[in-house]
Amino acid sequence: MAAAHFNRERTRRRIAVVFFFWSLISLSCAGRLPVERQKLDVQKHLNRLNKPAVETIKSLDGDTIDCVPISQQPAFDHPFLKDHKIQMRPNYHPEGLYDDNKVSTKAKDRTNPINQLWHMNGKCPEGTIPIRRTKKDDVLRASSVKRFGKKKRRTVPQPRSADPGLMNENGHQHAIAYVEGGKYYGAKATINVWEPKIQQPNEFSLSQLWVLGGSFGEDLNSIEAGWQVSPDLYGDNNTRLFTYWTSDAYQATGCYNLLCSGFIQINSEIAMGASISPVSAFRNSQYDISILIWKDPKEGNWWMQFGNDYVMGYWPSFLFSYLADSASMIEWGGEVVNSQPDGQHTSTQMGSGRFPEEGFGKSSYFRNIQFVDESNNLKAPKGIGTFTEQSNCYDVQSGSNGDWGHYIYYGGPGRNPNCP
Ligand SMILES: *[C@@H]1O[C@H](CO)[C@@H](O)[C@H](O)[C@H]1NC(C)=O
Repeated sequence: MAAAHFNRERTRRRIAVVFFFWSLISLSCAGRLPVERQKLDVQKHLNRLNKPAVETIKSLDGDTIDCVPISQQPAFDHPFLKDHKIQMRPNYHPEGLYDDNKVSTKAKDRTNPINQLWHMNGKCPEGTIPIRRTKKDDVLRASSVKRFGKKKRRTVPQPRSADPGLMNENGHQHAIAYVEGGKYYGAKATINVWEPKIQQPNEFSLSQLWVLGGSFGEDLNSIEAGWQVSPDLYGDNNTRLFTYWTSDAYQATGCYNLLCSGFIQINSEIAMGASISPVSAFRNSQYDISILIWKDPKEGNWWMQFGNDYVMGYWPSFLFSYLADSASMIEWGGEVVNSQPDGQHTSTQMGSGRFPEEGFGKSSYFRNIQFVDESNNLKAPKGIGTFTEQSNCYDVQSGSNGDWGHYIYYGGPGRNPNCP
């Protein structure tokens, strides 16, 4: 009896001791686990994004460019692309049929090559595509692993919105030109390249064209391309070539560049997200880049060309709902984030940081603004609308002449006496 009681006592004490240590361990784990899990998530995400490279090229701006076999790029992580046959060239080009020498993915005799900084240290071999390597710090700067490489929601300028408060919801400001009311199958423009100053790392400044499908609801489709300065995304203030896509108004689908599966790149020379150089200087040399986006009428894929020579690749039609058919609106212009640091308007610049009135060499421009019409031809718009939320901060003016076709000057300094 006494022995049994003693044993029970001992067992109870043992249980208490074990429970005590178990609590200690689980308490300390609870403190550490989220960090460990985040580290693991970041590493997993990096492993998904950074594919094994055949060759690696270091760039002067600190970037690492991986030459990844074309069939092993991130796009093919998409379940719908498992058995996809890569299209090595478009079936159709809106600037007319071309010979293979002109639009090839290989360098030929070019007059005015557009430079990406990493080219100084090498080229990717044929059969590979250059991918800017994502670093741990790049992911850690994002609000979460899930949001890395994605734009914040509700960022598309909505010219006809009756509620400017809604448009300004997360402080995005625009100065754009647009066409709407038709069916559009692409867009083109030549965009002046600058390096605008960004006041805070969580802000950005970009100049791009938007190919938009659907109304501005939760299922907005958008394809975007241009240049941007985004310290949060890239870790520096360099001007970089970028693309973006979404089929649900920036919620779950889409991303910048190749930071998710979707865009299929075929070009071996130009890296998405890589720095563009040189950039324009005030009252000095001006540089610009051409971007063309068009829909292949046969396969339905949306293609992108950079400059006159680089067919970059395509967004498969199945990524989209409205854009699987056609676009309902095209926009050209600038966008910045106004996070209102110190309670005032941001001094982050758009374009060159100068207002349109100043003109060439001072203000930034888009020239040869065109869209692809229902017959798949490039057309200059008959009428073009312009839109900005606060013209005292960033403004836009459109015009046309024989040399430049339709053009806009756009941008501004942000904070100034008239934009407090
Ligand atoms: C980017 O520019 C801002 C000022 O515009 C500066 O404070 C910051 O240090 C720069 N960041 C880098 C990484 O050069």
